[in-house]
Order: sequence, then C-alpha cells, then structure tokens
Amino acid sequence: MKILKTVSEVKEQVKLWRGEGLTIGLVPTMGWLHEGHLSLIKNARENNGRVVVSDFVNPLQFGPNEDFDNYPRDLDRDAGLCEKAGVDVIFAPSVEEMYPEGFCSYVDMNGLTGGLCGKSRPIHFRGVQTVVNKLFNIVTPDNAYFGEKDAQQLAVIKRMVLDLNMNVKIKGCPIIREEDGLAKSSRNSYLTPEERSLAPIINKAMTRGKEMIQGGERSSEKVIAAISEIILSVGITKIDYVSIVDSLSLEPVDTIERDILCACAVYMGNFARLIDNFSLEI
Ligand code: PAJ
Repeated sequence: MKILKTVSEVKEQVKLWRGEGLTIGLVPTMGWLHEGHLSLIKNARENNGRVVVSDFVNPLQFGPNEDFDNYPRDLDRDAGLCEKAGVDVIFAPSVEEMYPEGFCSYVDMNGLTGGLCGKSRPIHFRGVQTVVNKLFNIVTPDNAYFGEKDAQQLAVIKRMVLDLNMNVKIKGCPIIREEDGLAKSSRNSYLTPEERSLAPIINKAMTRGKEMIQGGERSSEKVIAAISEIILSVGITKIDYVSIVDSLSLEPVDTIERDILCACAVYMGNFARLIDNFSLEI
C-alpha cells in the first residue's frame, strides 16, 4: 500500500493502472477510520481492481464555529487499518495541495441542500461537492462509495453526478452501528462517558418512529413529536432537527404516503452533533 500526498503522484498511479486495464474504486473519507468506513472499503475491494481511500479533513465543509480544528486526525492509525483492508493507495493531501493560493472555484446546488443538515450548516454541502468533484477528477474512479449514514450527502452526490454527467457510479452502503444501536461516527470520540451512555437513545427513538409508520401512522407531525420526546426524555436538550422528507426531493412531507427519509441531528456536549436516519418505502 502506498500513501500519496500529491495530486500528480495519484494521477501518475492512476495512469499506470488504466494502462493495465484495471478498474478503480474510491472511498472518500476524512480519516479517523472506523467500521463504517471499513464497510465501504470492503465493498470497494470486492468490486474493483484497485482501491483508493482519500483521507483529508476538508476545511471547505466546516462552518466558522464548527469542529475543523478538533476533528480527530491520525494518518498512521488509518494507514494500518487500510493496509489490513487491502487498500492500494491512501491519498492524504495537505490543505495547500488541495486548495493552493488563488483557489476560487466551487461546485454548488440549488435544491436538496436547503433543509435537514443544510439548514444549520449552510456552506457544508458546497464544500462536500467541491472536494468530492476534485477527488473524482484526480482519481477518475469507476465506482465511488458513500455511506447511507450521511443520507443527505449521498442524495446530493448522486444528483450532482447525474446533473453534471460525471462518469462515476455512486454506491450507497448501509449504516454500520455499535452494538447498542448508535451509528458509528468519527465524532463519537468527542463524547464523554456520560454522553456516550445517553447517545443510543437517538437510534431507539428513530426505531420507535419507524415502527409507528410501519404500524400505519401517516402524520409526520406525530412521528416527529414522538421521536423528539423520546430523545429529550433522557436529558438531551438540543435537537437540531427531526424531519420526514421525500426520499428524492428531500422536501418535507406532512402526510406519509410515498417513500420517505426520516432524519435527525442532535447536539451533545461541546462538539458532537450526531446524525441518524432511516428510509422507508411506502
Ligand atoms: P466521513 O465522515 O469520514 O465519512 C466518509 C464516508 O463514510 C461517508 O460516505 C460516510 O457516509 C461513511 N460513513 C461514516 N460513518 C458510517 C457508518 N456508521 N456506516 C456507514 N457509512 C459510514 O463524509 C465525509 O467523511 C466527507 O463529507 C467526505 C465525503 C469525505 C467529503 O469530505
């Protein structure tokens, strides 16, 4: 396994692989890898000749008061996990390599990004789209792997690829959870032991919401109220949102009568903003 730090090194490597007729799978990450990332890597490993993992904490997708500075970073640790998982190349560029002086081009979207996480993180998806575009241009993957844990991100990337006729297939992968149901996340490392013990309530509440809909409840308002009440019952005080939206347009729905995404974001402690979601076909 190689760790490459520059765009030109990656492009050179990709050219050699293409010469051998190999397909390439890309797994974009911000590092501090866990089993969620590893499930994406496994999927990529099984379906491509070569696998590239990008490991880059992207400043463009963090707001001014967000956790860019505190985001956990450990390339050696990530490299050990990638090596074991059969990754061929880790692309770990510096911020200057990705955004050299004078950088001023962005990729943005008018729909899909106004609600859910986009509401409290207004510049987030522009940053995600821009960096993912750059990664696609650098690595030119056949397939790129994204987790359903970040459901809005997955929808945005799929739409961007469709709208801009990009030559890459986007593969969505299921949410990997801790045994107690908490969705695995690099940000779980921010939690104090007490916060960690409360955090599984998020998935418990979402599961209750899912059961309500499966049991015939069609009022979004009632489901959202039930989920919120369960989360607040353990003393968590700050819910960013609980929303039920159309799976494709991500527009809120009042009456649940077509495929929906139910998503939430909850603040815990100083830095942690935990997200979870489920989708249902109606
Ligand atoms: P990061 O949070 O590191 O996540 C990288 C990928 O792993 C994303 O596609 C995310 O959805 C997936 N992932 C994270 N936790 C998961 C879990 N518990 N189960 C399944 N998949 C999981 O998302 C980003 O980085 C960035 O926004 C990025 C796309 C790399 C652009 O900077």
